[in-house]
Amino acid sequence: MVSVNVSAMKETNAPRSALASANACGKIVLFGEHAVVYGRPALAAPVKVVQATATVDRGQMGQGLWFEAAGLGKRSKLMDAPADDPLAAAVRLTMSHLNLTAMPDWLVTISSTIPIASGLGSGAAVSTALIRALAEAAGRDVTLAEVSALVFEVEKLYHGTPSGIDNTVVAFERTVYFIKGQEPQFLTIERSPTFIVADTGVASLTKIVVDEVRRGWLREPDRYKWLFDRIAQVVTAARAALVQGDEGGLGSLMNENHELLHQLGVSSGVLERLRNVALAAGARGAKLSGAGKGGNLLALVASGDEERVAVALRAAGAKNIIVTQVA
Ligand code: PMV
Repeated sequence: MVSVNVSAMKETNAPRSALASANACGKIVLFGEHAVVYGRPALAAPVKVVQATATVDRGQMGQGLWFEAAGLGKRSKLMDAPADDPLAAAVRLTMSHLNLTAMPDWLVTISSTIPIASGLGSGAAVSTALIRALAEAAGRDVTLAEVSALVFEVEKLYHGTPSGIDNTVVAFERTVYFIKGQEPQFLTIERSPTFIVADTGVASLTKIVVDEVRRGWLREPDRYKWLFDRIAQVVTAARAALVQGDEGGLGSLMNENHELLHQLGVSSGVLERLRNVALAAGARGAKLSGAGKGGNLLALVASGDEERVAVALRAAGAKNIIVTQVA
């Protein structure tokens, strides 16, 4: 069991008047999405240039706990929020986990620079920041494993049947080789490859795409099993290439993984177009990342090629570009 005290990772950016404040990063799935839901391995990495932030302030006496997420157009009193509201669920689960029986008079404010429904783990990041800030405000320490387990419960509201990869990579903030139900294996990478994350601008809900794949698997179990097994082989090879710094190998494996995801039916016209543009501009490999049917394209670029590939992707209609290194 990996168990690190979360207080070591707490951000200290709480405004003077705030009781607590915490951040959490975004994430990208590098290899193995969808197959990971069916017990195959996957690789994912934190994206620290985008963040969700939760701040806890003292609210008005006797008013109970309120939460506000201006970006989501949400301001609710916890007592009035429906059971399946993910923010309310994160608060309730955390309070129950910390045995906080008396309702505190707190105002919890959430903000985020992570695009929603684009495969960057916005839901997991918001929950992680929220849980960390609540624990800090309550004067309690929670381990990274506890945060991850709580976020996993909230993820079920977003995803239905999450594999657990999003909560693991966001809560631990480390590059992970992940198999559902097993202890995560965190990787040490000698040379950090550079990736461009290009947003198609097409929002895609993970739950819907995961449900579509499940229907396909029920219809054609043999074909889907073959595809999941092939993806698993790619992930195993990609883990070795990532750890050894073999960028050429990594790029080819990204292309192979994308082709298999295409055969699973989770690519889209925009993803294919952006992928071709990235490869034509010199990316070493490119694939969709996350649930697909929109969301993000992930391209591996050699050092010095970032600008050229980013400019080409922007010209081809990518709505947002993030350059990130997997460390
Ligand atoms: O949250 P997303 O869109 O990056 O999807 C996560 C990866 C999936 O394999 C599609 C779902 C899961 O729970 O693993």
